[in-house]
Amino acid sequence: MKILITGGAGFIGSAVVRQAIADGHSVVNLDALTYAACLDNVAGVADSPNYAFVQADIRDRAALDAAFTAHHPDAVMHLAAESHVDRSIDGPGDFIETNITGTYNMLEAARSYWTAKGKPASFRFHHISTDEVFGSLPADKSVKFTEDTPYDPRSPYSASKASSDHLVRAWHETYGLPVVLTNCSNNYGPFHFPEKLVPVIILNALAGKDLPIYGDGSNVRDWLFVEDHARALLVALQRGALGRSYNIGGDNERTNLELVTALCAILDAKRPKNEGSYADQITYVTDRPGHDARYAIDATRIQDELGWKPSVTVEEGLERTVDWYLDNTDWWQALLDRKGVGERLGVKALSEDPTMKDPATEPAEPRA
Ligand SMILES: NC(=O)c1ccc[n+]([C@@H]2O[C@H](COP(=O)([O-])OP(=O)(O)OC[C@H]3O[C@@H](n4cnc5c(N)ncnc54)[C@H](O)[C@@H]3O)[C@@H](O)[C@H]2O)c1
Repeated sequence: MKILITGGAGFIGSAVVRQAIADGHSVVNLDALTYAACLDNVAGVADSPNYAFVQADIRDRAALDAAFTAHHPDAVMHLAAESHVDRSIDGPGDFIETNITGTYNMLEAARSYWTAKGKPASFRFHHISTDEVFGSLPADKSVKFTEDTPYDPRSPYSASKASSDHLVRAWHETYGLPVVLTNCSNNYGPFHFPEKLVPVIILNALAGKDLPIYGDGSNVRDWLFVEDHARALLVALQRGALGRSYNIGGDNERTNLELVTALCAILDAKRPKNEGSYADQITYVTDRPGHDARYAIDATRIQDELGWKPSVTVEEGLERTVDWYLDNTDWWQALLDRKGVGERLGVKALSEDPTMKDPATEPAEPRA
């Protein structure tokens, strides 16, 4: 199958590109190469005869039409997005334009192409989304996000992704576009851009810097190894029912503090400090505005209907991730100079509140 993958130079998109090529598919990687992109993420497959790259912005409809016409994909996997919650708090405009208008452009370009081809039933538009569209869960572990959980997004990022999900469903209902949707929990693993929680903790630890934790560190996330997500996405693309959505998660709920402590323990074993533990570097900083308390995914549907389940435990996955960052210094060193990396983002709104102390003076903390 020839798959047009948007956002294939990002963290998850590049894992999907690598997995799709390994599975024998042809891939057209369409990416604008924003600050979050890195073509090194796909260097291992870039010479494959089954790989093509198109630099294009999903806000540019004409460029999308040209890509469809030039490459004739059998399916689309749409991952391109602005993805960093803290950046969405400081500057929501890019999130509206890329995540909402960009998805609208993708849907229209795909619909036009699919219609011109005679509306083949085999065509798929797979929209990749997040569990953050469902809002925040109570602490009760028996309650998880299912595909029927009402949408309740709280951040500009999650609201923009929720909007895009609604558009995709509307294009299926109204125009019959053959779509499938997935909503996934927090990913981690190799090639994770160094503004997100896991890489920042690893890199700050190694640099002897503070390991900043929002609030009291009790926020819970459900962690999934990125390669398991990539496999789930390819299963959903090929076997998912039309118009259906699938939740994807690792069943690995951890508080942020537990996650950071686990990373410190792995680093203590692999790269011991002269004295003490990396956990001694943990620092608590002012919480993010609107920080959702808990996310947890019920992945029963994709497990029962499509036979997917995660293959990597969080302990194995975190160890593999730490190993990867220890072995790939050149990759992350090159990204540390990009704009905003290493700064505390998402605090402009707090700074405008006179009742709050100024978090901009506190150490940077990344978004998971
Ligand atoms: N990271 C997670 O934990 C997570 C979890 C669930 C779902 N998702 C979703 O998965 C997708 C990928 O997430 P990620 O973490 O890999 O993101 P990322 O920020 O690492 O990568 C995004 C990619 O999209 C590209 N892009 C951004 N704007 C673009 C535009 N206007 N036109 C074309 N390309 C553009 C960037 O250049 C980059 O390569 C997103 O849709 C995100 O909402 C992420």
